[in-house]
Amino acid sequence: MPRVLITGGTDGIGREAALKLAAEKHEITISGRDPKKAKDVIEQCQAKFNNTPRFIQTDLSLASEVVKFANEVAGEQYDVCILNAGIMNPKPGRTSEDREATMMTNLVSSYMIAHKIMNTRNDESRPLHFVFSTSIFVKFHNSTPLGLRFFNPQKVSDWQKSLVPSDVSGPGKYAISKIGLATLSSSISLANLPNVTATSVHPGTVYTNIMSNLPARQQFYIKLARPFTTSLSDAGANLVRAAKNPLPAGKFYLADKPTKLPSFVYSDLSIAAFEGVFEQFKIRN
Ligand SMILES: NC(=O)c1ccc[n+]([C@@H]2O[C@H](COP(=O)([O-])OP(=O)(O)OC[C@H]3O[C@@H](n4cnc5c(N)ncnc54)[C@H](OP(=O)(O)O)[C@@H]3O)[C@@H](O)[C@H]2O)c1
Repeated sequence: MPRVLITGGTDGIGREAALKLAAEKHEITISGRDPKKAKDVIEQCQAKFNNTPRFIQTDLSLASEVVKFANEVAGEQYDVCILNAGIMNPKPGRTSEDREATMMTNLVSSYMIAHKIMNTRNDESRPLHFVFSTSIFVKFHNSTPLGLRFFNPQKVSDWQKSLVPSDVSGPGKYAISKIGLATLSSSISLANLPNVTATSVHPGTVYTNIMSNLPARQQFYIKLARPFTTSLSDAGANLVRAAKNPLPAGKFYLADKPTKLPSFVYSDLSIAAFEGVFEQFKIRN
């Protein structure tokens, strides 16, 4: 059975995916900041499925912790890595290392971890699959000219600007971090490394803890729309589907459906701009 790493497996959609994979007897490792949440996931898996996930405590908003975490998981040679941890509207908007909090937690840490894992693979004949939790924002970013005017992934300067910390890290930074994850996924796919695949997935819109920093009115409307949004169970299943069924470059999962990615996500120009800026985050030995 494939061995699976799930960042952000202590809560919300990642937790749901962890429970589903544990039920199928996969050997899983979850990560998060909160050991109490992890204890609950572990106890559920033990009681229901006689399966004991491993927990690695880490704060992915801090580069120093990401380096430790990436080194540790790279040594484990997982078959599937679901890079799912994420935040929205964090307060404060800059980390104690003076980095942009949303970009660091959602995107930069995933870049660091994925590249460390690829660079320390010891068996190229063994499949390695990455899943990145992205958002519906990637689908609609260029639906009006305003989207690309706000952030154009083909511009090095736009990626650089997105990384500059400020006291407020709002929904715009969340959207950019999610576009970045789809571009990272595409970049890995298009690199055609032997037996390496990568797929991004919008798991569905679900009211979870990630929305706890949104203004109260927005939270109210999202809760009100619950009957029309995805259930937590379905969102977890969508993450698991993406883990089991890699898609070719140029596609991603919109909930349960393979869908075309907008070309601005994976055009040669976007990938060159993205890699040119993010290369600095590769963990060197
Ligand atoms: N909910 C939605 O509607 C929706 C829609 C599209 C995409 N997504 C994406 O799906 C992913 C999961 O979201 P969710 O809704 O399940 O949110 P959630 O319930 O808040 O779960 C987030 C997970 O990420 C972990 N995490 C957050 N900050 C972290 C940090 N600094 N270091 C390490 N781990 C951290 C949390 O663990 P601890 O609390 O233990 O730190 C938790 O396990 C996110 O990437 C999100 O952007 C969600």
